[in-house]
Amino acid sequence: MTLTLGEGRTPLLAAERMSARLGVEIWLKWEGANPTGSFKDRGMALAVARAVERGARGVVCASTGNTAASAAAYAARAGIEAAIVVAEGAVAGPKLAQAVAVGARVVEVPGTFGDAYEASIALGEKEGFVVVNSINDDRIEGQKTAAFEILEQLGACPDALLLPYGGGGNTKAYARGFEEAAGRLPRLHPAQAQERRDTFASAIRIVEPVHRAEVEDAVSRSGGAVVTLGEDELAAAWRRLGREEGVFCEPASAAGAAALDHGVVRPGERVVCVVTGHGLKDTDALRRPGS
Ligand code: F0G
Repeated sequence: MTLTLGEGRTPLLAAERMSARLGVEIWLKWEGANPTGSFKDRGMALAVARAVERGARGVVCASTGNTAASAAAYAARAGIEAAIVVAEGAVAGPKLAQAVAVGARVVEVPGTFGDAYEASIALGEKEGFVVVNSINDDRIEGQKTAAFEILEQLGACPDALLLPYGGGGNTKAYARGFEEAAGRLPRLHPAQAQERRDTFASAIRIVEPVHRAEVEDAVSRSGGAVVTLGEDELAAAWRRLGREEGVFCEPASAAGAAALDHGVVRPGERVVCVVTGHGLKDTDALRRPGS
């Protein structure tokens, strides 16, 4: 089936002020430009289409918010149900609003994202719904298209790719995309919050990354390294991206840009920072002191 809301084909923006400041050629892959405001739409379009082809009545996922908003929208578009499981109080209001607005059923459970994930698997089994978290490989297949676009937009493989690291599905997807289309990997630098359990960057508030083994394997094959970020440096990079380049993203989305300050890129290199979600998804983050 054809299922689309116009996902993908997002801009690759030259970050001229950041580049001049750091002496590195920096590009921003602006994934907030996707239909529901995050990179999740790439894989969700495919995962929901395939679920429908398999005769699913509905889809289910656990989420820190963006997967929820995306699953809900594509399920509505396909005319099937969506059930969303979230950790109580852990999801930014506008993301829940996105899911509710298109008719998804939202279930809150006490605990962490991990608890929501277990509940979503159980709910999926009970209802006969297809799970559309990133353990569903259709999600990864869809998300890898972002690597194809970067190769087309730059006309070459970048030296390094910096991106947020939550569960690791996106890192895995970029690695697959670059290896398939370019036969090589840029140096991969997934950037995680040191405070995984309670970072203010709520999108990456995930204690145990489900794709950790594949991420570590791809990172080491690429010659890269995982970067770990403190809360203040994440917040500073997030504010700077808005003020220096006019790109208003949600806090987690600035993790790749924050990793630039960790000595992982060399002068003159060509670097892509993946900016994963829109700032309008988490306007409460602006209340953080210093914002
Ligand atoms: N950036 C944003 C804006 C996200 O929403 C997520 C994950 C990530 C980065 C991390 O990507 O998990 O593939 O390493 N959000 C998921 C969700 C967990 O439920 O929306 P990852």
